[in-house]
Amino acid sequence: EMSPEERAFQEKIDAEIKIEPKNWMPDGYRRTLIRQISQHAHSEIVGMLPEKNWLTRAPNFKRKLQLLAKIQDEGGHGLYLYSAMETLGADRDEEVAKLHSGEVKYSSIFNYPALSWADMGTIGWLVDGAAIVNQVVLQRTSYGPYSRAMIRICKEESFHQRQGYQILLHMMRNGTDEQKAMVQDSINRFWWPALMMFGPHDSDSPNSAQSMAWKIKRMSNDDLRQRFIDQTIPQLELLGCTVPDPDLKWNAERGHYDFGEIDWSEFYDVVKGNGPCNRDRLRIRRKAIEEGTWVREAASAYAAKQKQKNAA
Ligand code: ACO
Repeated sequence: EMSPEERAFQEKIDAEIKIEPKNWMPDGYRRTLIRQISQHAHSEIVGMLPEKNWLTRAPNFKRKLQLLAKIQDEGGHGLYLYSAMETLGADRDEEVAKLHSGEVKYSSIFNYPALSWADMGTIGWLVDGAAIVNQVVLQRTSYGPYSRAMIRICKEESFHQRQGYQILLHMMRNGTDEQKAMVQDSINRFWWPALMMFGPHDSDSPNSAQSMAWKIKRMSNDDLRQRFIDQTIPQLELLGCTVPDPDLKWNAERGHYDFGEIDWSEFYDVVKGNGPCNRDRLRIRRKAIEEGTWVREAASAYAAKQKQKNAA
């Protein structure tokens, strides 16, 4: 039996009216949003790390500026998302501390290494491409601040995706045989992990049914994954590359590409903290927080002094 508050809440959801921070909401709705938005924010912040590795190795000044701008955008996305999370009453420092202790999740994809310059192209094209497919739909999520954060983030992500694709297209059209092989190797390594970004099959996704009913999620994990594959394969063909999936084939009857089964043991292993880079990512995050302590202390001391001055 629904309480009057719950009924009014569900009626708003059904009528596509956004839920705002001061509105009544069920505890479960609040908890689910804090979980998803914090994981999303952590992913943006940790996602800066694989790319930072190539800032000092970019092939020229223009590429370096583009990469730097893209990484800064990711940092900005993390900050909007932490702010959206705070409107739900969560504490930013507490949530970040949970990331650093390894208690909470962030996207599996950022636990794979960036081994070549082609990986900067592939990450922009496939990883940011997968992120956009998920986030375009989240622009219609039922929680107002999250939905509005997604609108701006999607605009920036689409620049990232094109930036990445352009790197690959340039290497495939103007590169040496070695550079072309570098592109194919990069796609081989990132293809399956990119598909894993959408999460487990709907049948194995514990949060999906409730999140869909609350319209926190607007499209299922499997449907988003299919949409991503369908829009990515024509771009792959334009590059003149392949993906490491012998079962990938256009299915005219379904109007979609068929594809092989994901290695779910690898997915769960990475999510549990045992991917190739999990430990290293968290170690670098903790180090950054430690080394920034003096900046935070100085800023607080300055703010306290200004307050005193204004009071006098
Ligand atoms: N990496 C790490 N964890 C994952 C992944 C993944 N690729 N996919 C699912 N999970 C986790 C879920 O967070 C959930 O964990 P929890 O219940 O312990 O919190 C568990 O696996 C089960 O999955 P679902 O029930 O399907 O979880 P959910 O309904 O939250 O759906 C999804 C997962 C699709 C990732 C959803 O949370 C979402 O849309 N998040 C927003 C987008 C996002 O976070 N993008 C980050 C990568 S893109 C970028 O940052 C550039």
